[in-house]
Amino acid sequence: MSELAARLLERIARHGPITVAEYLAEALTHPRQGYYMTGDPFGARGDFVTAPEISQMFGELIGLWCAETWQGLGGPEALMLVELGPGRGTLLADLLRAARVLPGFRAALELHLVEVSPALRALQAQSLGGAEATWHASLAEVPRGRPLLVIANEFFDALPIRQFERTPEGWRERLVGLAPAGDALAFGLSPPAPYAEALLPEALRDAAPGAVAEVAPAALSLAAEIGGRLAEDGGAALIVDYGYARPDGRPTLQALRRHAAQDVLAEPGLADLTAHVDFGALARAAHEAGAEAWGPLPQGAFLEALGIATRAERLAAGAGPEQAAEIRAALHRLTAAEEMGELFKVLVLAAPGLGPLAGCAA
Ligand SMILES: C[S@@+](CC[C@H](N)C(=O)[O-])C[C@H]1O[C@@H](n2cnc3c(N)ncnc32)[C@H](O)[C@@H]1O
Repeated sequence: MSELAARLLERIARHGPITVAEYLAEALTHPRQGYYMTGDPFGARGDFVTAPEISQMFGELIGLWCAETWQGLGGPEALMLVELGPGRGTLLADLLRAARVLPGFRAALELHLVEVSPALRALQAQSLGGAEATWHASLAEVPRGRPLLVIANEFFDALPIRQFERTPEGWRERLVGLAPAGDALAFGLSPPAPYAEALLPEALRDAAPGAVAEVAPAALSLAAEIGGRLAEDGGAALIVDYGYARPDGRPTLQALRRHAAQDVLAEPGLADLTAHVDFGALARAAHEAGAEAWGPLPQGAFLEALGIATRAERLAAGAGPEQAAEIRAALHRLTAAEEMGELFKVLVLAAPGLGPLAGCAA
């Protein structure tokens, strides 16, 4: 049993069951035992591999998207580039390298990184190789009053969700409690939860018994915060993640450890816990706060519209045969429908009047 599991068992035995969102917040970001707080979960020896870790092309193309957006903004002399959850800092390093093609753009950028993990902050500083940057615990800490570009790759899937289950007696909230013997964590249901009605996605209000609705309060308020800032200060945001445009009543919460799926409650603090992102809900929250929204667009089509195939051929032309094969394999993995091309999606948000931005016609 993980140390955090033991701590949670004790807490639940004393104070009663907790919501799935409370469980996830502890499991991912507990200051000492949270999954992201302790080490480096990325790569072949970690638990998962993200798009920027698959190929430099991902960050480079996002860099070009940022440069075009900067031009669309009229080439301001100062622009905040805010990355949410930068992981190892790979995307940002690749983005900044690509940004050098437009020297005025690179000079305008002020880097702001929103990162909760001290271990990952250190890795990000290394990847930036001395480039000046400021770290924050949340977007609310990033200064206001200047235009901004916000990038979030596989960030929203890490924000805590609540789960509601439709039973024959109505909606109830899924809770994390104790197994009958008291020695393990187990899912249970709350008493009837009429408050759930106010939180449920419209598409699931009349769902049949057995349906599960996932609601991400932190993600929705962050999308609204981004939308409000874009409307007020100008700029755009690119949110990339796995998810759907409309919920279908199936639960998506999952645990991953060393590239294999495992029980969500088995090892809090040691496994990566994520849920698919409800892009439709994020787009609505940002739109209600004043921003325009495009998407979600399939990642494959978005990257193709930005020119990933040409970039891959150019890189392959300058590489040896083995490396060229790796570049083409990475292109396939990022864009093919049966790989990341369809499951991963892109939501573009912008200040009113700025868009449609590069890739939005994908
Ligand atoms: C799955 S990783 C994605 C990393 C990176 N964007 C990539 O594509 O490789 C999630 C990142 O978000 C950070 N993170 C997770 N929850 C957070 C929170 N509540 N506040 C700030 N950062 C958070 C993690 O520490 C990590 O850097």
